[in-house]
Amino acid sequence: RARTPFRNEPLTDFSRPENRRAQEEALAQVRSELGRTYPLIIGGQHIQNSETFASVNPAQPDQVIGYFSRATLDQVDQAVRVAAEAFEQWKRVPAHERANYLFAAADRLRERRFLFNAWMIYEVAKSWTEADADTAEAIDFLEFYAREMLRLAEEQPLVRIPDEDNELVYIPLGVGAVIPPWNFPGAIMVGMTSASFVAGNTVVLKPSSASPTIAAQFVRILEDIGLPAGVVNFLTGAGSSIGDALVSHPLTRFIAFTGSRDVGLRINELAAKTQPGQRWIKRTILEMGGKDAIVVDETADLEAAANGIVTSAFGFQGQKCSACSRAIIVESVYDQVLQKVVEKTRQLSIGDVTRPETFMGPVIDANAFKKITDYIEIGKGEGRLVLGGGYHGPGYYIEPTIFADVDPHARIAQEEIFGPVLAFIRAKDFSDALRIANDTEYGLTGSVYTRDPERIQRAKEEFHVGNLYFNRKCTGALVGVHPFGGFNMSGTDSKAGGRDYLLLFTQAKAISVKK
Ligand code: NAD
Ligand code: ALA
Repeated sequence: RARTPFRNEPLTDFSRPENRRAQEEALAQVRSELGRTYPLIIGGQHIQNSETFASVNPAQPDQVIGYFSRATLDQVDQAVRVAAEAFEQWKRVPAHERANYLFAAADRLRERRFLFNAWMIYEVAKSWTEADADTAEAIDFLEFYAREMLRLAEEQPLVRIPDEDNELVYIPLGVGAVIPPWNFPGAIMVGMTSASFVAGNTVVLKPSSASPTIAAQFVRILEDIGLPAGVVNFLTGAGSSIGDALVSHPLTRFIAFTGSRDVGLRINELAAKTQPGQRWIKRTILEMGGKDAIVVDETADLEAAANGIVTSAFGFQGQKCSACSRAIIVESVYDQVLQKVVEKTRQLSIGDVTRPETFMGPVIDANAFKKITDYIEIGKGEGRLVLGGGYHGPGYYIEPTIFADVDPHARIAQEEIFGPVLAFIRAKDFSDALRIANDTEYGLTGSVYTRDPERIQRAKEEFHVGNLYFNRKCTGALVGVHPFGGFNMSGTDSKAGGRDYLLLFTQAKAISVKK
């Protein structure tokens, strides 16, 4: 297995009746399992607190997906200490054995693929295809990081000198706090957790309170494959109440976080403060928000550009760090592109994500609903509302919304809304479009639609984003193919799913023996 080259997991073809049937059956099974109670897991012990919170279905907020314990600050301390004890054994487990746990977890995830999809459809309202892509990416991370660990464990090339034997080995760091977001509740959670422990670290995993059930399903897989107790500990509770304690703990060695800019910056600040008894500089791997743009010039295939904009702006309700929230179009084709995008957006199916044909469901929760609809009201004063703008309950449904003629410095053109709201911005020419695209504090993804080779070259040099695409959508990075991470306030550019990633979870030791 380890010798076979990595290949991306194929997506499920839901036009095939057997796949549709399997997904329907998985949805029915998951429906029958809704509302269960899930424990904290510390050192293999299942702990049930009396204080719990509920994770709910965004389409039907009175439907509970699962109940979870609110971890106390003492339990944060206990989890980090247990992880620190487990580290003493786990760091000695050979790399190939650690990698085998990832291969085994990937196999289990494949077996449970439709169930895993179904949990995402219920808990975060992903469409079938979005949920399936998320599960495929989770499998990819396991397969990719397992192989990457084996590569790092090989003899590393060094310059030889006659009178010494020298080697460089990558050793683990210690206890990692893994803090994922809810929007890729499978892939990002699995990716950050598995990268941490395959490298020989132990983990305290604190999932987002909007998607803890999906994390609990993965932790169950880790138990099933026999991952030793204490290697991955599972703590639930509000990030705002237990996050600081986890990040500041003197035995926490690194923090792998993906989420919003403000929480990422807070973690960065807290992690930089040395605590009594702390023996290291904490490492932070912080992947944050985006205000991503698609640029279209007058030479572009306008039909393809409009398709790319619609998919990037409204896939998973616009709740991707990579989502297109700014369409920057050169003047001469602005009206044409706008018209095409509006027409295509009108065709999107919105509603019940348990149905295979639905493209868009509700946004994640009441806070997101309020934030996004507030931005829609702001947008009405900043641009021309050309489509959508409506919202309704009881699920958190917001229409795909397009504002035209937005000033590049308007709030809806600068602040991450994280919902189905797209700002159209008029550019004088290609140079102006590139300038506007870069005029943001973020720098995650971007795409350019053009047929001009000189402009492609220029954008390659000047468009300052971690993931730059040409003549395609700006979402949907593939593990191993498009290592993913952003510049500036989008984060530390860790390049998840790339060859640089595992280095962030290790430290290199140079060993020299005099002959
Ligand atoms: P969030 O920042 O609200 O939460 C992320 C995680 O941090 C959650 O687990 C949350 O519980 C935890 N948290 C909250 N407060 C904390 C604190 N004080 N200390 C420690 N942890 C704390 O983000 P979200 O709403 O879950 O996710 C959406 C955001 O994530 C968007 O900004 C999106 O752009 C970003 N995102 C970025 C990437 C990327 O690769 N750059 C990928 C996905 C999502
Ligand atoms: N990696 C995800 C994408 O590229 C966020 O859309």
